[in-house]
Amino acid sequence: MADAPESREQWGSRTGFILAAVGSAVGLGNMWRFSYLTAENGGAAFLVLYLVLVAAVGLPVLLAELVIGRGSRLSPIGALAHYGGSRWRLLGGLFLASGFLILAYYSVIAGWTLRYALTALGGFGPDSGAYFEQVSTGATAVGWHLAFMALTIAIILGGVNRGIERVSIVLMPLLFAIICGIAIYAATLPGADAGYDFYLSIDLAQMLDFKVLAAAASQAFFSLSLGMGAILTYASYVREDENLPNEAVIIATADFAVAFVAGLAVFPLLFALGLESKVGESTLGALFITLPSAFHEMGFAGQVVGTLFFVALVFGALTSAMSLLEVVVATAIDQLGWGRPFATMALGSLCALLGVPAALDLDVLGLMDQIAGSLFLVFGGLMLSIFVGFVMPDPVGEARQGAEGVRWFGAWRLLVRTVVPAVLLVVLWQSIRALG
Ligand code: PFF
Repeated sequence: MADAPESREQWGSRTGFILAAVGSAVGLGNMWRFSYLTAENGGAAFLVLYLVLVAAVGLPVLLAELVIGRGSRLSPIGALAHYGGSRWRLLGGLFLASGFLILAYYSVIAGWTLRYALTALGGFGPDSGAYFEQVSTGATAVGWHLAFMALTIAIILGGVNRGIERVSIVLMPLLFAIICGIAIYAATLPGADAGYDFYLSIDLAQMLDFKVLAAAASQAFFSLSLGMGAILTYASYVREDENLPNEAVIIATADFAVAFVAGLAVFPLLFALGLESKVGESTLGALFITLPSAFHEMGFAGQVVGTLFFVALVFGALTSAMSLLEVVVATAIDQLGWGRPFATMALGSLCALLGVPAALDLDVLGLMDQIAGSLFLVFGGLMLSIFVGFVMPDPVGEARQGAEGVRWFGAWRLLVRTVVPAVLLVVLWQSIRALG
């Protein structure tokens, strides 16, 4: 049984931890994946279903990861073995693989956002489709992907307190402010109403569709950074007396709020500029093609809003990528005894290399997203719920530490043992069918 090292790094403050965890959760998933999934799957119907899933499935797994991380003070492989015996190291290994794969393609998309932020400053050209083709694959994409990875590596080299926490404390409030500012600005545009109608109108028929359920559930996992040990790893650096249930609620609420407000920014903007016919495009590029067209039409205002928008995306992507790399780095430190600098450089470079095929071919990127970003996370969440529900000796006792006033432990236990695995099984089955 692996035990926690005495000298483990720690967050400097509770706020620092919460902002780092929110930073992991808030990312490309909120601003890019969420808006097109909502558009594609019935507008407000998807929104409502998503909210229910976040509360009934996401939140319980989030709390489970927090409890396992704090209790073991170890990264996933060691943490699972600590409570469940060495057999469970296998699941930790899957988490690691997910982290590698997701970071590899996530960094490619993040590289686009870096490039877009710069272009937005000077103004987008009229043909954003051609621009996307030029930026999204090939040597340019590889270059920006590597630049983004270098940035991520540089921060993780700084460690938990001086790297991750310091960066999150600055970037997260900025991101919130920018997204809210753009949403308010969008509300002032003539024609914005049509955007709200589209975003917030309900198509109930879609709510009963298994495909929509699967999309909402895997989005909840992706968006909350669940099912691969990122939150678990961050929780391994918290103090004993944190109120984890409350923190889980704060993290999930902040994550949902950013996604929701991002939708309030994106849809009114697009509709006000008459670009609604393109909104339904569910491809990876919707946000990277349609939105720049809007910014182009808006002239100088588009330069300002466009730059801010893509800068916010970069902030979100960076704080999420940090958590993905931290999972692998922390594992190498805990399990192999590597030093942080070597682990970060070696594993970060490996991940950068793994992303190159995704930067050269959009189909590879899409496949990696489908396999790691949906399938692995959902499977990871399913196994985690079984672990906490039936294997871990006293999860409620551990969760109660520092949270004596909290009343929903019974509900948590029940959800983790019943609703969570049942829903995730259905989703997994649906996702596998969709792949075949
Ligand atoms: N939650 C991030 C987003 O919404 O963009 C993506 C992510 C980060 C997924 C970390 C998984 C993870 F472990």
